[in-house]
Amino acid sequence: MTMKSPKAFVAGWPIDHSRSPLIHQYWLKTYNISGEYKKKAIAPDKFAAGFLQLRDKGYCGGNITIPHKVRVMKLVDETDVMARKIGAVNTICFHDDKIIGSNTDGYGFITNLQACAPQWSCRNSHAVILGAGGAARAVIAVLLSRGAQQIILCNRTLEKATELKARFGERIEVCGWERRAQILTETDLLVNTTSLGMIGKPRLDIDIGGLNEKAIVADLVYTPLETRLLHTARRNGHTIADGLGMLLYQAVPGFEIWFGRRPQVTAELRDLVIDDLAKRT
Ligand code: ATR
Repeated sequence: MTMKSPKAFVAGWPIDHSRSPLIHQYWLKTYNISGEYKKKAIAPDKFAAGFLQLRDKGYCGGNITIPHKVRVMKLVDETDVMARKIGAVNTICFHDDKIIGSNTDGYGFITNLQACAPQWSCRNSHAVILGAGGAARAVIAVLLSRGAQQIILCNRTLEKATELKARFGERIEVCGWERRAQILTETDLLVNTTSLGMIGKPRLDIDIGGLNEKAIVADLVYTPLETRLLHTARRNGHTIADGLGMLLYQAVPGFEIWFGRRPQVTAELRDLVIDDLAKRT
């Protein structure tokens, strides 16, 4: 009897830009695993039907991306702790007759951070996060779970930061956007989770001269790979962590669930995605 090849997907709208197929297909080839990973464009108003159809077509699971990460939560039977804390799901497993949802964005962020700064410990750390959208939630959830002592959330729309404080609790402080440069002095970690600095978006205007030289600077933006923020931080002697690293590491748990092998994030994979980004941006 031959084993069926597992099939996985990434579902979003639009989906053309997704690099997930490149990553998973690289791992399938590298580990000589017979399987598939495909893009599925599902419009928001057709999401439930389109998603359940994937299960009925024999997919073993997949990734859920923008704009479906919150909406999919209504369709899953079980969620992991991170998905519940973040309020969004990015990884699905169809297991027997159950749909299990998890969120690996926080894992991707922290694993990349640890790879870039092995000496750094999250325990008792002080972080500043710029932005209060979905990406910020993933970063907050994982930093709190790893023992961060204080997180200052700095966002243009103060209400959104205040909502996240209500969700995540007393270790969160909120701060107006205009004070972003002044709050950096006691910070061990600065993270940009806004879209500022991305190709086609306004620049992220922040003076990081007040940061302690040991502070780590992370940017979730990966087009360009080295944002202006990261460029300045590197020049000022800070350890930096880029958004591509997070993208690669967040894919690891899904691949293991669907295809049965924990894959490695290698320099070769990174280069492959960088080449693809250069072609398409
Ligand atoms: P994601 O889910 O990827 O985090 P999002 O929910 O759209 O995306 O969040 C984008 C973040 O970038 C928000 O914190 C947003 O600030 P607001 O809450 O005030 O909208 C921030 N952002 C976007 N454009 C900005 C700008 N020009 N200046 C400051 N912050 C900006």
